[in-house]
Amino acid sequence: MAQPYRTAYHFQPPKNWINDPNGPMIYKGIYHLFYQYNPESAEWGNIAWGHSTSTDLVNWTIHPPALLPSDTYDINGCWSGSATILQDGTPAILYTGGNSQKVQLQNLAVPKDPSDPYLVEWVKSPHNPIMIPNEDEKESFRDPTTAWLGPDGIWRVVIGNERENRGTAVLYKSEDFIRWTEAERPLHSSSETTMWECPDFFPVLIDGENGLDISEIFSGIKHVLKNSVARSFVDYYTVGAYDHHNDVYTPDEGSVDNESGLRLDYGRYYASKSFFDSEKKRRIFIAWVNESTSKEIDLIKGWSGLQSFPRKIWLHKGGKQLVQWPVEEIEMLRTNKVDLQNITLEAGSKREIWGVTAAQADVEISFSIPIAVLEQAEVLESNWTNPQEIANQNGSLANTGVGPFGLLVLASNNIEEYTAIFFRIFKKNDKFVVLMGCDQKRSSVGLEYDKTNYGAFLDIDPLTEKLSLRTLIDHSIVESFGGGGKACITTRAYPTLAINDNAHIFVFNNGSQHVDISTLSAWSLNQAHIN
Ligand code: FRU
Repeated sequence: MAQPYRTAYHFQPPKNWINDPNGPMIYKGIYHLFYQYNPESAEWGNIAWGHSTSTDLVNWTIHPPALLPSDTYDINGCWSGSATILQDGTPAILYTGGNSQKVQLQNLAVPKDPSDPYLVEWVKSPHNPIMIPNEDEKESFRDPTTAWLGPDGIWRVVIGNERENRGTAVLYKSEDFIRWTEAERPLHSSSETTMWECPDFFPVLIDGENGLDISEIFSGIKHVLKNSVARSFVDYYTVGAYDHHNDVYTPDEGSVDNESGLRLDYGRYYASKSFFDSEKKRRIFIAWVNESTSKEIDLIKGWSGLQSFPRKIWLHKGGKQLVQWPVEEIEMLRTNKVDLQNITLEAGSKREIWGVTAAQADVEISFSIPIAVLEQAEVLESNWTNPQEIANQNGSLANTGVGPFGLLVLASNNIEEYTAIFFRIFKKNDKFVVLMGCDQKRSSVGLEYDKTNYGAFLDIDPLTEKLSLRTLIDHSIVESFGGGGKACITTRAYPTLAINDNAHIFVFNNGSQHVDISTLSAWSLNQAHIN
């Protein structure tokens, strides 16, 4: 069977269902990625922890599942969780198990042989389950974070929960990593969301791109709390302060505590999890990117779900939001570089980028918009507050203003099929507002699926800052980074014409004003070794 939607450098196992990334870590120089995995089918069920290792976050070796449902406390599935490096340097996994009544319980597993850098065998603790839910929270108590050590030498961990109709990050404490007790109050909760799945909590430097170990506490840091909200399938985060004496986290003023706040990604990107890479001193995020097609199609193709390409993340120097960028190791796959410089994209024009394998590519563009052009920008109506709705209205089609301009990827020769990643610039009072969008309305002429467009406001000033776009294309996934990684949009596309060598990439401008490309670099990307 032809498999045009399998990826070349986005992680996926040879077959079957995957969802959330679990327990990412680096141990003895080896990266470990676990993930929710059904060993038997391309639909969700029988959930085990699939396991892969890598020396470079690009090429992966697949091992047997690390955890399989086997005991009363996890017979209904080994659900999401995290890895923690303990004080003696060995790792431990905390994960959620479901019993036969579907009660969610937290469990511990440790490596059978910690001297094996591949950690292929894991042993479940005889003390399991080590945390049990309150009576009325039996099915809303899951997804432990990486644990951190307080200055008092006591471990803390957060469990995702919904309590009194609030998304809640329940806090547990332990002296020995085995006996855990619930803290007096949650780390944080919000009345504006429902159940928090897959919480992720970590410190970030106020000034600098390096990552921090989760237990580091000093004055030059802020904390980030990311939650995954099932009702909207959104990973949102706040930036704030962690008071480690009282064990509470408070988002900074203005950091919106619900799904209309800051998102790691404004497209398809869920249940993300980060880890600190102690060798390269960076924090890395990975997320589940699900299919947008139906379960029937998953079963026919025999697989479902991808992991996003790993992203380095850090706090933007303004202190208000995160910045994300594909890990530098992707450059080892780059080949056949194509460079273009100082091109004017006239209103209504497009231009093909020749010379790269368009179904497997990495493109970086820097636009420059002359002031005279910016002055022609459309006025942003006062009720246009939802960027996704604006992006969905006219998408990348012709408009009478500055943009939409950007990239058409996974495009067929005659442009019957394409996915557009675009910018549109508006005027609001005396400032400019940049909309980043992803138009997928025409991403496939042959397959029906959710083709709602995605959109985000990109916090840059086109008068003083360069407007850049980086896009990774990989057969059925497109990951885009606007403004150097200040807004990201990931999408899935299932072209039926623009497949493999029949895929094309264009730069386009459907606005009524010209825009300039100061630099454009594109690379073919080689296939990663994933087996
Ligand atoms: C998120 C999630 C988690 C749960 C896991 C089950 O996608 O629902 O809350 O642990 O998936 O596979």
